[in-house]
Amino acid sequence: MSAEIIDGKKVAELVRNRVREDVNDWKSKGHRAPFLQVILVGDDPASKVYTGAKTKACEDVGIETHTRILQDTISAKELKSIIKAYNEDDSVDGILVQLPLPSHLSSHDVIETIDYRKDVDGFHPMNVGRLTVDEPCYRSCTPAGIMELFKHYSIPVKSKHAVVVGASNIVGSPMAIMLSRENSSGKATTTICHKFTKDLTQHTISADILIAAAGQPELIKGEMIKEGAVVIDVGINRVADETSEKGYKLVGDVDYESVRKKASWITPVPGGVGPMTVAMLMKNTLLAAKKSIYPE
Ligand code: GUN
Repeated sequence: MSAEIIDGKKVAELVRNRVREDVNDWKSKGHRAPFLQVILVGDDPASKVYTGAKTKACEDVGIETHTRILQDTISAKELKSIIKAYNEDDSVDGILVQLPLPSHLSSHDVIETIDYRKDVDGFHPMNVGRLTVDEPCYRSCTPAGIMELFKHYSIPVKSKHAVVVGASNIVGSPMAIMLSRENSSGKATTTICHKFTKDLTQHTISADILIAAAGQPELIKGEMIKEGAVVIDVGINRVADETSEKGYKLVGDVDYESVRKKASWITPVPGGVGPMTVAMLMKNTLLAAKKSIYPE
Protein backbone atom coordinates (compact mmCIF):
# COMPACT_ATOMS: atom_id res chain seq x y z
CA MET A 1 0.00 0.00 0.00
CA SER A 2 1.11 3.54 -0.63
CA ALA A 3 -0.77 6.29 1.16
CA GLU A 4 -2.93 8.87 -0.56
CA ILE A 5 -1.74 12.39 0.09
CA ILE A 6 -3.87 14.78 2.11
CA ASP A 7 -3.30 18.06 0.30
CA GLY A 8 -3.55 20.70 3.03
CA LYS A 9 -2.45 23.43 0.66
CA LYS A 10 -5.38 22.78 -1.64
CA VAL A 11 -7.98 22.43 1.12
CA ALA A 12 -6.64 25.57 2.84
CA GLU A 13 -7.13 27.45 -0.42
CA LEU A 14 -10.76 26.27 -0.55
CA VAL A 15 -11.31 27.46 3.03
CA ARG A 16 -9.66 30.80 2.25
CA ASN A 17 -11.80 31.21 -0.89
CA ARG A 18 -14.92 30.73 1.21
CA VAL A 19 -13.69 33.23 3.81
CA ARG A 20 -12.84 35.75 1.06
CA GLU A 21 -16.38 35.48 -0.34
CA ASP A 22 -17.88 35.89 3.15
CA VAL A 23 -15.63 38.88 3.90
CA ASN A 24 -16.74 40.53 0.65
CA ASP A 25 -20.35 39.82 1.49
CA TRP A 26 -19.86 41.27 5.00
CA LYS A 27 -18.24 44.41 3.59
CA SER A 28 -20.94 44.78 0.92
CA LYS A 29 -23.46 45.08 3.76
CA GLY A 30 -21.66 48.24 4.93
CA HIS A 31 -19.39 46.74 7.61
CA ARG A 32 -15.69 47.55 7.86
CA ALA A 33 -13.16 44.82 7.04
CA PRO A 34 -12.39 42.36 9.86
CA PHE A 35 -9.23 43.34 11.73
CA LEU A 36 -6.63 41.02 13.27
CA GLN A 37 -4.02 42.40 15.68
CA VAL A 38 -0.90 40.24 15.79
CA ILE A 39 1.65 40.62 18.60
CA LEU A 40 5.15 39.26 18.11
CA VAL A 41 7.55 39.41 21.06
CA GLY A 42 11.23 39.11 20.18
CA ASP A 43 12.72 37.93 16.92
CA ASP A 44 12.45 34.15 16.90
CA PRO A 45 13.01 33.25 13.20
CA ALA A 46 10.28 30.58 13.06
CA SER A 47 7.75 32.90 14.72
CA LYS A 48 8.58 35.57 12.15
CA VAL A 49 7.88 33.09 9.34
CA TYR A 50 4.55 32.03 10.91
CA THR A 51 3.31 35.58 11.56
CA GLY A 52 4.41 36.53 8.03
CA ALA A 53 2.28 33.70 6.60
CA LYS A 54 -0.69 34.84 8.71
CA THR A 55 -0.37 38.44 7.52
CA LYS A 56 -0.14 37.33 3.90
CA ALA A 57 -3.25 35.18 4.26
CA CYS A 58 -5.13 38.14 5.78
CA GLU A 59 -4.25 40.26 2.76
CA ASP A 60 -5.35 37.43 0.48
CA VAL A 61 -8.85 37.19 1.97
CA GLY A 62 -9.49 40.89 2.63
CA ILE A 63 -8.88 40.89 6.39
CA GLU A 64 -6.93 43.88 7.68
CA THR A 65 -4.06 43.20 10.01
CA HIS A 66 -1.20 44.81 11.86
CA THR A 67 1.76 43.13 13.54
CA ARG A 68 3.05 44.85 16.66
CA ILE A 69 6.66 43.80 17.21
CA LEU A 70 7.83 44.10 20.81
CA GLN A 71 11.29 43.74 22.30
CA ASP A 72 11.99 40.43 23.99
CA THR A 73 12.86 42.34 27.19
CA ILE A 74 9.30 43.66 27.57
CA SER A 75 7.84 43.17 31.06
CA ALA A 76 4.68 41.15 31.66
CA LYS A 77 3.02 44.32 32.95
CA GLU A 78 3.78 46.28 29.79
CA LEU A 79 2.70 43.45 27.49
CA LYS A 80 -0.55 42.97 29.39
CA SER A 81 -1.35 46.68 29.27
CA ILE A 82 -0.85 46.63 25.48
CA ILE A 83 -3.21 43.65 25.18
CA LYS A 84 -5.80 45.33 27.43
CA ALA A 85 -5.79 48.38 25.14
CA TYR A 86 -6.58 46.11 22.17
CA ASN A 87 -9.31 44.42 24.23
CA GLU A 88 -10.97 47.81 24.64
CA ASP A 89 -10.50 48.89 21.02
CA ASP A 90 -13.69 48.25 19.03
CA SER A 91 -11.80 48.40 15.74
CA VAL A 92 -9.84 45.24 16.74
CA ASP A 93 -11.79 42.00 16.18
CA GLY A 94 -9.12 39.38 16.84
CA ILE A 95 -5.94 39.40 18.94
CA LEU A 96 -3.17 36.86 18.42
CA VAL A 97 -0.02 36.67 20.53
CA GLN A 98 2.48 34.50 18.70
CA LEU A 99 3.94 31.73 20.85
CA PRO A 100 6.39 30.78 22.25
CA LEU A 101 7.06 33.83 24.40
CA PRO A 102 10.47 34.63 25.94
CA SER A 103 10.97 32.54 29.07
CA HIS A 104 10.43 35.41 31.56
CA LEU A 105 6.81 35.73 30.35
CA SER A 106 4.05 33.30 31.33
CA SER A 107 2.07 32.36 28.25
CA HIS A 108 -0.86 31.35 30.50
CA ASP A 109 -1.02 34.81 32.09
CA VAL A 110 -0.64 36.54 28.74
CA ILE A 111 -3.33 34.44 27.03
CA GLU A 112 -5.73 34.98 29.93
CA THR A 113 -5.28 38.73 29.49
CA ILE A 114 -6.76 38.54 25.99
CA ASP A 115 -10.52 39.11 25.93
CA TYR A 116 -11.84 35.60 25.18
CA ARG A 117 -14.27 37.15 22.69
CA LYS A 118 -11.22 38.26 20.64
CA ASP A 119 -9.15 35.09 21.21
CA VAL A 120 -9.11 33.87 17.59
CA ASP A 121 -6.38 31.33 18.45
CA GLY A 122 -8.82 29.58 20.78
CA PHE A 123 -6.21 29.36 23.55
CA HIS A 124 -8.05 31.22 26.33
CA PRO A 125 -9.36 28.91 29.10
CA MET A 126 -12.88 30.15 28.37
CA ASN A 127 -12.63 28.86 24.79
CA VAL A 128 -10.85 25.65 25.80
CA GLY A 129 -13.45 25.07 28.52
CA ARG A 130 -16.34 25.65 26.15
CA LEU A 131 -14.72 23.29 23.62
CA THR A 132 -14.58 20.64 26.35
CA VAL A 133 -18.31 20.95 27.01
CA ASP A 134 -19.25 21.14 23.30
CA GLU A 135 -20.35 24.77 23.47
CA PRO A 136 -19.71 27.31 20.65
CA CYS A 137 -16.20 28.74 20.98
CA TYR A 138 -13.12 29.72 19.01
CA ARG A 139 -11.48 26.39 18.24
CA SER A 140 -7.71 26.13 18.23
CA CYS A 141 -6.69 26.54 14.58
CA THR A 142 -4.42 23.53 14.00
CA PRO A 143 -6.76 20.83 15.37
CA ALA A 144 -9.77 22.58 13.81
CA GLY A 145 -7.89 22.51 10.49
CA ILE A 146 -7.23 18.77 10.89
CA MET A 147 -10.94 18.13 11.52
CA GLU A 148 -11.64 20.10 8.34
CA LEU A 149 -9.24 17.84 6.41
CA PHE A 150 -11.14 14.73 7.61
CA LYS A 151 -14.37 16.33 6.47
CA HIS A 152 -13.01 17.33 3.07
CA TYR A 153 -11.65 13.87 2.30
CA SER A 154 -14.66 12.09 3.90
CA ILE A 155 -12.30 10.27 6.26
CA PRO A 156 -14.49 8.64 8.91
CA VAL A 157 -13.73 9.57 12.51
CA LYS A 158 -16.79 8.31 14.40
CA SER A 159 -16.09 5.15 16.45
CA LYS A 160 -12.48 4.94 15.18
CA HIS A 161 -9.54 4.68 17.55
CA ALA A 162 -7.70 8.00 17.37
CA VAL A 163 -4.30 8.30 19.03
CA VAL A 164 -2.82 11.74 19.64
CA VAL A 165 0.90 11.82 20.34
CA GLY A 166 1.69 15.05 22.19
CA ALA A 167 -0.45 16.85 24.76
CA SER A 168 0.34 20.52 24.17
CA ASN A 169 -2.24 23.21 24.86
CA ILE A 170 -1.97 24.39 21.25
CA VAL A 171 -2.49 21.11 19.41
CA GLY A 172 -2.52 17.77 21.27
CA SER A 173 -5.04 18.54 24.02
CA PRO A 174 -7.64 20.41 21.94
CA MET A 175 -7.16 17.81 19.17
CA ALA A 176 -8.05 15.02 21.58
CA ILE A 177 -11.09 16.96 22.79
CA MET A 178 -12.32 17.57 19.22
CA LEU A 179 -11.81 13.93 18.26
CA SER A 180 -13.54 12.56 21.32
CA ARG A 181 -16.48 14.92 21.85
CA GLU A 182 -19.93 14.02 20.67
CA ASN A 183 -20.17 16.96 18.29
CA SER A 184 -20.80 16.60 14.59
CA SER A 185 -17.33 15.47 13.57
CA GLY A 186 -15.76 13.78 16.64
CA LYS A 187 -17.07 10.68 18.40
CA ALA A 188 -13.78 8.76 18.18
CA THR A 189 -12.36 6.64 20.97
CA THR A 190 -9.33 8.72 21.81
CA THR A 191 -5.99 8.05 23.46
CA ILE A 192 -3.54 10.81 24.38
CA CYS A 193 0.14 9.88 24.56
CA HIS A 194 2.86 12.16 25.89
CA LYS A 195 6.40 12.14 27.16
CA PHE A 196 5.47 10.00 30.17
CA THR A 197 3.74 7.33 28.09
CA LYS A 198 5.35 3.92 28.50
CA ASP A 199 5.77 1.92 25.30
CA LEU A 200 4.46 4.44 22.77
CA THR A 201 4.26 1.80 20.03
CA GLN A 202 1.77 -0.26 22.01
CA HIS A 203 -0.66 2.65 21.52
CA THR A 204 0.27 3.92 18.06
CA ILE A 205 0.05 0.45 16.53
CA SER A 206 -3.67 0.27 17.37
CA ALA A 207 -4.54 3.70 15.94
CA ASP A 208 -6.94 4.01 13.01
CA ILE A 209 -6.13 7.71 13.09
CA LEU A 210 -2.73 8.82 14.35
CA ILE A 211 -1.97 12.47 15.07
CA ALA A 212 1.74 13.15 15.55
CA ALA A 213 2.15 16.40 17.48
CA ALA A 214 5.08 15.76 19.77
CA GLY A 215 7.65 18.14 18.25
CA GLN A 216 10.10 15.24 17.81
CA PRO A 217 11.66 14.91 14.36
CA GLU A 218 10.59 11.65 12.66
CA LEU A 219 9.42 10.07 15.93
CA ILE A 220 6.78 7.90 14.24
CA LYS A 221 8.27 5.08 12.14
CA GLY A 222 6.54 2.69 9.78
CA GLU A 223 6.78 -0.21 12.22
CA MET A 224 4.86 1.80 14.84
CA ILE A 225 1.67 2.12 12.80
CA LYS A 226 -1.19 -0.14 11.76
CA GLU A 227 -1.61 -1.05 8.09
CA GLY A 228 -4.13 1.38 6.57
CA ALA A 229 -3.91 4.02 9.33
CA VAL A 230 -4.64 7.68 8.63
CA VAL A 231 -1.52 9.61 9.68
CA ILE A 232 -1.54 13.33 10.37
CA ASP A 233 1.84 14.98 10.86
CA VAL A 234 1.69 18.23 12.82
CA GLY A 235 5.47 18.51 13.31
CA ILE A 236 7.56 21.21 11.71
CA ASN A 237 11.07 20.61 13.00
CA ARG A 238 14.20 22.35 11.80
CA VAL A 239 17.04 19.87 11.53
CA ALA A 240 20.59 20.66 10.40
CA ASP A 241 21.22 20.02 6.71
CA GLU A 242 24.52 21.07 5.22
CA THR A 243 23.31 20.42 1.67
CA SER A 244 20.63 23.10 2.00
CA GLU A 245 21.39 26.81 1.48
CA LYS A 246 19.64 27.71 4.72
CA GLY A 247 21.68 25.14 6.64
CA TYR A 248 18.54 23.34 7.81
CA LYS A 249 15.60 21.40 6.47
CA LEU A 250 12.06 20.98 7.75
CA VAL A 251 10.95 17.54 8.81
CA GLY A 252 7.75 16.38 10.47
CA ASP A 253 7.18 14.16 13.49
CA VAL A 254 6.62 11.29 11.06
CA ASP A 255 9.26 9.33 9.19
CA TYR A 256 7.48 9.94 5.89
CA GLU A 257 9.19 7.30 3.75
CA SER A 258 8.55 4.32 6.02
CA VAL A 259 5.07 5.45 7.15
CA ARG A 260 3.63 6.24 3.72
CA LYS A 261 4.13 2.62 2.67
CA LYS A 262 1.70 1.41 5.36
CA ALA A 263 -0.72 4.31 5.84
CA SER A 264 -3.93 4.81 3.83
CA TRP A 265 -3.73 8.61 4.08
CA ILE A 266 -0.85 10.89 5.07
CA THR A 267 -0.16 14.61 5.34
CA PRO A 268 3.12 15.85 3.89
CA VAL A 269 5.45 18.37 5.59
CA PRO A 270 5.35 21.07 4.37
CA GLY A 271 1.97 21.41 2.62
CA GLY A 272 -0.14 19.34 5.02
CA VAL A 273 -1.38 20.74 8.31
CA GLY A 274 0.50 24.08 8.26
CA PRO A 275 -1.61 25.88 5.63
CA MET A 276 -4.79 24.69 7.39
CA THR A 277 -3.77 26.42 10.64
CA VAL A 278 -3.55 29.73 8.82
CA ALA A 279 -6.80 29.20 6.92
CA MET A 280 -8.72 28.40 10.12
CA LEU A 281 -7.32 31.56 11.70
CA MET A 282 -8.90 33.51 8.85
CA LYS A 283 -12.19 31.77 9.53
CA ASN A 284 -12.00 32.57 13.27
CA THR A 285 -11.18 36.22 12.59
CA LEU A 286 -14.23 36.56 10.37
CA LEU A 287 -16.36 34.92 13.11
CA ALA A 288 -14.91 37.48 15.55
CA ALA A 289 -15.79 40.42 13.29
CA LYS A 290 -19.32 39.10 12.88
CA LYS A 291 -19.56 38.37 16.61
CA SER A 292 -20.95 34.99 15.64
CA ILE A 293 -19.66 33.02 18.61
CA TYR A 294 -20.23 35.62 21.32
CA PRO A 295 -23.04 37.94 20.25
CA GLU A 296 -23.16 41.29 22.07
N1 GUN B 1 2.92 29.04 17.84
C1 GUN B 1 2.83 27.88 17.19
N2 GUN B 1 1.58 27.71 16.70
C2 GUN B 1 0.88 28.80 17.06
C3 GUN B 1 -0.47 29.21 16.83
O1 GUN B 1 -1.31 28.52 16.22
N3 GUN B 1 -0.81 30.42 17.35
C4 GUN B 1 0.07 31.19 18.05
N4 GUN B 1 -0.37 32.34 18.55
N5 GUN B 1 1.32 30.83 18.28
C5 GUN B 1 1.71 29.63 17.78
